[in-house]
Amino acid sequence: MTGERILEVANLWKSFGGIHATSGVSFDLHRGEVVGIIGPNGAGKTTLVNLLTGFIRPDDGRITFMGERIDGLPPHKIALRGLVRTFQIMRPFHSMPAYKNLIVPLNSPRVRKTRSGALGDLDSVAIDILEEIGFERDARVPYKTAGSLPLGYLKRLELARCLALQPVVVLCDEVFSGMSMSEIASMLPLLEKMQMNGITLMMVEHRLRELFKVAGRVMVINFGEKIADGPPAEVMEDPAVKKAYMGVEDRK
Ligand SMILES: Nc1ncnc2c1ncn2[C@@H]1O[C@H](COP(=O)(O)OP(=O)(O)O)[C@@H](O)[C@H]1O
Ligand SMILES: [Mg+2]
Repeated sequence: MTGERILEVANLWKSFGGIHATSGVSFDLHRGEVVGIIGPNGAGKTTLVNLLTGFIRPDDGRITFMGERIDGLPPHKIALRGLVRTFQIMRPFHSMPAYKNLIVPLNSPRVRKTRSGALGDLDSVAIDILEEIGFERDARVPYKTAGSLPLGYLKRLELARCLALQPVVVLCDEVFSGMSMSEIASMLPLLEKMQMNGITLMMVEHRLRELFKVAGRVMVINFGEKIADGPPAEVMEDPAVKKAYMGVEDRK
């Protein structure tokens, strides 16, 4: 199911003051994998996403994406190589229509060169992507301002912005949070479709039951350290994981 190694994270460290938010974390991602990142609040999950996408710089360690070092590069350069993210706190251009939020990625050199001259109408490409990601149920929604969209659509818009860049890897920071069970259920096929298209997904999630429906592998972070890495069923039986989760039930 999974292909070649596309991301190599080696001995990554980051501290804030005295807090080790990331402590010697190492792992690989392979093409087409869906990998969950779980762990208690404050464990260092978002910090890891920030490190991989250039929003913060590691104190030490190496990040190699498609054979090239990316640690130290700014976020836009990393995104242009195909490693993109969603935000736990979403940041759409609120006053723009939803579909206009996709114009910046669609205009990027990464996407332009794949269209090889036949530029076409960017607005209609944007609308197509939104339909693909589940905006199809109400044809007016893509034209509404992003700031007026309900949460479920905003989450989809975040993913659509990633997809517009024709990503290799998408890092999702809690895309399921705040969504209803039925909203999540309607999102699962979209994630599976992304995987089938060869996109690698790394999903930071608190919604474990829903996560395990799509993730074949899960890594557990606790106090900045990776304490487990493997198939969900095995990882959740790991005594160190059970201890980390003691009293921290799967939040609903
Ligand atoms: N920019 C920052 N400045 C100072 N401390 C931070 C910063 N970002 C994260 N931290 C701290 O690092 C730890 C890990 O945070 P975070 O990565 O957000 O955890 P998680 O996403 O797993 O809940 C926490 O103790 C948090 O307070
Ligand atoms: Mg977080």
